[in-house]
Order: sequence, then structure tokens, then C-alpha cells
Amino acid sequence: MIKSLYRQAQDYVNKDITISGWVKTLRDSKTFGFIEVNDGSFFKNLQIVFEEGNIPNFKEVTKMPVGSSIIVCGKLVETPNAKQPFELKASSIQIEGLSTPDYPLQKKRHTFEYLRTIAHLRPRTNTFSAVFRIRSLAAYAIHKFFQERGFVYVHTPIITGSDAEGAGQMFRVSTLDLNNLPRTEEGAVDFSQDFFGKETNLTVSGQLEGETYCMAFRNVYTFGPTFRAENSNTARHAAEFWMVEPEIAFSDLQDDMELAEDMLKFIINYCMENAPEEMAFFNSFVDNTLFERLNNIVNSKFAHVTYTEAVELLKKDKDKFEYPVEWGADLQTEHERYLTEQIFKKPVFVTDYPKDIKAFYMRMNDDNKTVAAMDLLVPGVGEIIGGSQREERLDYLEKRMDEMGLHKDDYWWYMDLRKYGGTKHAGFGLGFERAIMYITGMSNIRDVVSFPRTVNTAEF
Ligand code: 4AD
Ligand code: MG
Repeated sequence: MIKSLYRQAQDYVNKDITISGWVKTLRDSKTFGFIEVNDGSFFKNLQIVFEEGNIPNFKEVTKMPVGSSIIVCGKLVETPNAKQPFELKASSIQIEGLSTPDYPLQKKRHTFEYLRTIAHLRPRTNTFSAVFRIRSLAAYAIHKFFQERGFVYVHTPIITGSDAEGAGQMFRVSTLDLNNLPRTEEGAVDFSQDFFGKETNLTVSGQLEGETYCMAFRNVYTFGPTFRAENSNTARHAAEFWMVEPEIAFSDLQDDMELAEDMLKFIINYCMENAPEEMAFFNSFVDNTLFERLNNIVNSKFAHVTYTEAVELLKKDKDKFEYPVEWGADLQTEHERYLTEQIFKKPVFVTDYPKDIKAFYMRMNDDNKTVAAMDLLVPGVGEIIGGSQREERLDYLEKRMDEMGLHKDDYWWYMDLRKYGGTKHAGFGLGFERAIMYITGMSNIRDVVSFPRTVNTAEF
């Protein structure tokens, strides 16, 4: 209701309306009072004015603790000289559910650290109301972007028998009794006695299964939860996060990067256009360079640099870094941020990484040393997207799997895609939480996930 009031006030002014919602603040003097109420439909509140003569339970209402739920009837009147454009003159206030005076969200600023300890209540605060509305809208924008381009949304499995990244950072899924594991004669865990009869894990990426549908539907995307048991306690890593993974057939790395750039710009524009109040809030209270940064991004072409060139650029300033910069080593967060924040000052695609620091499925370049990979780095967050052109040549793929010690038996179906009409194709993964951090200016991944799962935290 409150959203409709703000969007079409003229339809409601001087009319009787009913609002149900939660009390955010309450002030009163002897004979009248003000309540700011939020009905959940909008980021903004509605101000209620109530007077002793007009509502029978005046005393009771003035004693209501913040957080209580109420149903208010009254007339909407314009208030041209006040902070808010209108207010509701109450004719009745019915108390639905009383709160108690120890309600943790009193009208003062709480730290994000504290609010994480009450993750079940924090969506009632302004900041988290804005964050989770943007999260919802951005998810919708992603579907809209891909659906309008004819991509098919594929649901890839959460429980899987293969390791998509070959990195081994997986959470095991098992019905075996941890205190009494069955063993084979050689002493290994006997997974034949497990529910699925083999070792299974939570997925780290839907890519490989996505590729199978790509070879049938041409352009597909997945958008779902992924899980990584990375032991990195940083502001950008979560053990459970959502990834958006498009996969495009008859396309190369260049097409892949164009798609990524278009998608990111689309999501940002969509949020700016459809949630102006929330975005203005972030720009005022969370990061006051946000609008400048986002406008700059939607209006500029992203930069491109090869890994080899990037290493040369970083070496020039090597004294500024804690970690050494050398060809063949993975770029550290400090290097990534330096590239995007200091050197290019905008999002930058780093391409053609050394094969040894990338996954087995990436297409080998002609130099036999680098692969057709791309990472998109953005100011403030660092890596937000990782992608590549995929190796479509079976002999190259098998060679890489052997070199990297993967069990080819687990990937027989993946190799079949190369055998039966394989074609050039590419894709990427956008870390959804990192995208939300980027769009809102929030600096900790724990504050863009409803109930964050990170090392040592799985409360709620
Ligand atoms: O670079 P990554 O590991 O790439 C893949 O998983 C590919 N299979 C994607 C593909 O080509 N289809 O992960 C992709 C993105 C990263 O750029 C990052 O934004 C995010 O996923 N990400 C994480 N986000 C939060 N917490 C973590 N622990 C993350 N690990 C990766
Ligand atoms: Mg990556």
C-alpha cells in the first residue's frame, strides 16, 4: 500500500485508507502523537498522526513499544511544507501484536557487525530493507536480461558426483555415519555403501551441466546456489553463494566478454531505474561515490588487458605490494584491485591466463602456455566474474585432464559433448553477492546474504 501511495498519491489524497504494518518510531505529546509505520511494500515509511479525541485507545497507543504491528484507518492528507509529502490522520489504531521494550532495533544507528548477530531482525532496518529489495530486483533483472535474449534457464543439480572446477573445495554430501565409516579392504572409505553408491558433493558451479544444455539449446543460463569450502575468512568469500552462469554456443571469448559487459550494465541500469529510493539511500549513507561510479560504468567501455600485460604493468609498481608479482602466479586481491582502481580506474577484463592456474576445461591458446580465460575485475570488489572459452577439442581436453590428474571416468558425459557435434562455446560465472556488493556499495558479503554461511558461522 505505501508504495502505491508514493507512486500515485493523487489517487488517495483526502480518501479513507487502511494501512497494516510495523511501528518504526513513535513520538507523542500529551494530546497527539506521530508514528512512522512500514507496511513492507516499500522502502519508505508512512507517517501517522493521531489525536487523543479521535482514537479511543490513545493511552495504549502511546505506550506501544517500537516494533509492534498495527492496523490503522484514517484519511490521507497532503503536507506540502513537511519532510514527507503526506501523512495519515488516524481515525482508529488497532494493535495487532505488541512488541516489548527490549526490541533490539531502537532508533539509533547499529553497526553492521551487531546486526549480523540478529540476522532474523535486520531486514527490518533501512539498510537491510534496501539491500534485500535490490537483491530481489537484481535477480529479476538477470532473468529479464537473459529471457529477453532467448536464453533458456536451466536448473543444474545441487548434489553432484563431479568437481566442476577441479579445485577440490567441496562440501561432502553423505549418509554415512561419520563415527563409523565403512572401509574397503585397502582402508579407503567405502562409498558404495553411501546413499548414491558413490562419493557426492554440493556443487561448486553449474557450468559443466550447463554446457550439456548449451549443446542442445544454444544459449542457456543457470542461476542458483553454489558451495565452496574455501577456508578464506574475507569480506568477499562465502561458503554458500549464488552464481549466474550463461553458456553460449558458436561463440568465442570475445562474445563472452561482450555478453558479460552488457549483462552487468543492464542489471545496474535496471536497479537505478526501478529502485531510485533505495539507490539514493546507498549513495547517501553507504558509499557517496556510488552514483558517480555506477554512472561511469554504464557509460564507458570496459578495459581489456592480457594477463601477461597486466603482470608487466604491476611489476612497474611492485614495491607497493605485499605479494610478489611474477608471470605464472595467480593475481592476488591487492593486484586485482590495483589494476582496476589505480591503473584502469574502471572495470577491466584480464584475459589469457597461464594454463596452470586455471581450470581444466578452458581452451588452450596457440602458444600452448595460456588459456582463453577472462576475469572481470571491478573497483571496490575485485573479481566479480570468471569465465572462458571452453576446450571443444577432445584430444586437448583429455590431455589437460591427464596432466591435472582428474578421473576421466567421472567426466565421460562431459567428453561426449566433444564427441557428438562439439562446437566452439564459452561462458562465465557472475558471483551474485559480489554483484550486489558492487551495486549497493556494501563492503562485506555477509551483509548482502540473508543468512550468511562463512567459516565458523552457520547460525539461523
Ligand atoms: O571464477 P569462478 O570460480 O568460476 C567458475 O566457477 C566457473 N565455473 C564459472 C563459469 O565459467 N561458468 O567463480 C565465478 C565467480 C567469481 O568470479 C566470484 O564472483 C564468485 O563466483 N565466487 C564467489 N563469491 C562468493 N564467495 C565465494 N567463495 C566465491 N567463489 C567464487
Ligand atoms: Mg575465478
